Amino acid sequence: MKIEKVLNSRINNMDFNNISFGNSYSDHIFCSEFRNGKWINPIIQPFENMMFSPGSLVFHYGQAVFEGMKAYKDKNEEVFLFRPEENFKRMNRSAIRLEMPTIPKYIFMNGLKNLIGLDRNWIPKNYGQSLYIRPLLIATDVGLSVNPSNDYLFMIMTTPSDAYYKNPLKIKIEEKYSRSSPGGVGFTKYSGNYAPSFYPIRLAREEGFDQILWTDSSTHTLIEESDTMNVCFWLKDKLVTPLANEKILNGITCKSVLSLAKKEGIDIQKRNLSVSEIIDGLKKGFLKEAFGCGTAVVITYFQTISYKGKNFYLPDLPDEERISIFLKKRLLDIQHNLSEDPFGWRLKLEKIL
Ligand code: COI
Repeated sequence: MKIEKVLNSRINNMDFNNISFGNSYSDHIFCSEFRNGKWINPIIQPFENMMFSPGSLVFHYGQAVFEGMKAYKDKNEEVFLFRPEENFKRMNRSAIRLEMPTIPKYIFMNGLKNLIGLDRNWIPKNYGQSLYIRPLLIATDVGLSVNPSNDYLFMIMTTPSDAYYKNPLKIKIEEKYSRSSPGGVGFTKYSGNYAPSFYPIRLAREEGFDQILWTDSSTHTLIEESDTMNVCFWLKDKLVTPLANEKILNGITCKSVLSLAKKEGIDIQKRNLSVSEIIDGLKKGFLKEAFGCGTAVVITYFQTISYKGKNFYLPDLPDEERISIFLKKRLLDIQHNLSEDPFGWRLKLEKIL
């Protein structure tokens, strides 16, 4: 792989006390092109603006998939990736669904390891902070006929990250708009899954909510997911999450949280979860907690859930009594190498460059 290092790092312009998600990128980016059926030209180069023809297919028909993953530092400034192979596999599942070429493992993993190794100074040091890693695959053919592209560009870029949400969330159960549909692309990290939520989320924000809780597109009676998060409910002493299916993103953080919970002896259930069960739990007090989990948000609990114009408050528990806070700490401790790694999720990065 070719490596072109920056002459002058921008790191001194980075304010690590005031991290704003995705506003500052580390010095380098990894790129590889797909042309004539082959992956070629893997390179790490300075992160800078790129030139694309306005006729590039990605801008018109939206062939673009991405991933979200993180690198962490421990107290000795050793660097760890968290379950990177899961992101690699999911990216290729997304690519297949969007009729894009899959990325070979050596391209993905070598690009990733070398990039993070080179930009390791950009990984914030504090507990809960990390370097967010964004792999992105886009269609680069120029042409307007509605066909999959022949050529693609795969990139990996990184941005320092802190808590995505600063406060517990006020959530509205959505009854009109939908995120995904049967046979659709809800299970992928397709870029086009996000923009259609902006309008309903703005409407919800105007009503005083932070986020939407999506329900199934046909009946709006089953809980699916929320914004960039999978959701979990602490219902009658069981941790319940909607079954990841073709409509729900198969979240790596959610999967990890459930494995940790199970290991702690917590009863977990992956199943269809109805809106009425949640509302009943809120009314009768057997829904103790609800939270979202995802790479960017880690775990963020909900303060209120609103349905048909009625606002329900979740119990105002102290942090020590919250299963969400307990599981978040268990997860972050593993990610920051502060505890045993019973599932072998950490990948230590050697100082390679
Ligand atoms: C994630 O949490 O997995 C993400 O990639 C979130 C991103 C869309 C902000």
